[in-house]
Amino acid sequence: MTLMKHNLTLKDRNSFGTDVRASLFAAPQSTEELSRLLDEYDTQNLPLMIVGEGNNILFTADFEGLIVNPQIKGVEVIEEDDTVVVVRVGAAENWDQWVERATQSGWFGLENLSFIPGSVGAAPVQNIGAYGVELKDFLAWVDAWDIQQKRMIRLHRTACKFSYRSSIFKTDAIGRYVITHVAFQLNKEPHLKLDYGPVKEIFSKASGSSPMDLRNIITSIRKKKLPDPKVHANAGSFFKNPLVDMTQFKCIRVDYPDIPSFRDIDNQVKIPAAWLIEKTGWKGKRQGNTGTWPLQPLVIVNYNNASGQEILNFSEQIREDVEKMFGIHLEREVQVVG
Ligand code: EPU
Repeated sequence: MTLMKHNLTLKDRNSFGTDVRASLFAAPQSTEELSRLLDEYDTQNLPLMIVGEGNNILFTADFEGLIVNPQIKGVEVIEEDDTVVVVRVGAAENWDQWVERATQSGWFGLENLSFIPGSVGAAPVQNIGAYGVELKDFLAWVDAWDIQQKRMIRLHRTACKFSYRSSIFKTDAIGRYVITHVAFQLNKEPHLKLDYGPVKEIFSKASGSSPMDLRNIITSIRKKKLPDPKVHANAGSFFKNPLVDMTQFKCIRVDYPDIPSFRDIDNQVKIPAAWLIEKTGWKGKRQGNTGTWPLQPLVIVNYNNASGQEILNFSEQIREDVEKMFGIHLEREVQVVG
């Protein structure tokens, strides 16, 4: 039987550290416990939410419903040959510990995704990405409990409908699946991906050329640029990098010739939200208990017991100023709940 906790504080279960409560909270240890829990709960008709380590959520109010925090662990090799290995990992494994283990085991591909906070089960929801690699590049399938059909199902990569920081789990099928395991197809031969920004330069200056060396470099870049959520509460990038069409981009570039950009598919251009925010003057700015990180303004920090609403209001001011200055609407990366 999964123990149900009542009126539980979520302060230590969300990386923004906002002080809210869940009326019910359960942490099932297996798929059997999970299915039993959801069956029992089915009768109550209250909101339900799945939370991993809570690194991409901004709670702005108490949650009147059940929070399920799956505790399914384990790392299992499903198949392997001379060149690839398929490994199935429990949703509750910590993401970075898994990347460490994979790299040490000679299962390559995830090095650029080192030091991203969170659990393995949360990674497909927003298709985590960094330094030119996205989770989807190495994901084979996702196993999940289907709340609608009340059975386990397997979603292969294409069924997950991955795109930049998005998937079926946060769009068409939001609230339908509880991810229990993620399977990865990894390479036994290293293929280092060095083409993002300064990675190649830093890597060539450093001694060493192995995937573990790359993992260490990515970790040190992140440690330098991004605030440690255990010290400065935050949820990583608060907004996505916006996509604009070429015509709009060219108009903006007339006034701002230094605007950085990345070509994307369908004649669209991706602009770094950090640059837009910096131009509006919000970089490193603090207001009350919140502020943007001085080295990366895309990250909003809860400096001192800010409420979720305070953080949300702060972010809305940034969003309004970017909209006024550039006519670009920033979409949130962080999930706001409340
Ligand atoms: N920039 C500025 N000012 C700054 C910082 C950056 O103008 O203060 C501009 C620069 O032009 C820079 C560009 O923004 O070249 C890109 O900056 P950075 O490499 O730091 O990456 P990002 O686009 O801001 C994305 C991800 C991060 C990920 C990095 C590295 C999103 C929303 N964010 O940030 O992911 O770590 O790339 O790959 O795509 C996260 O999702 O939580 C996250 C931290």
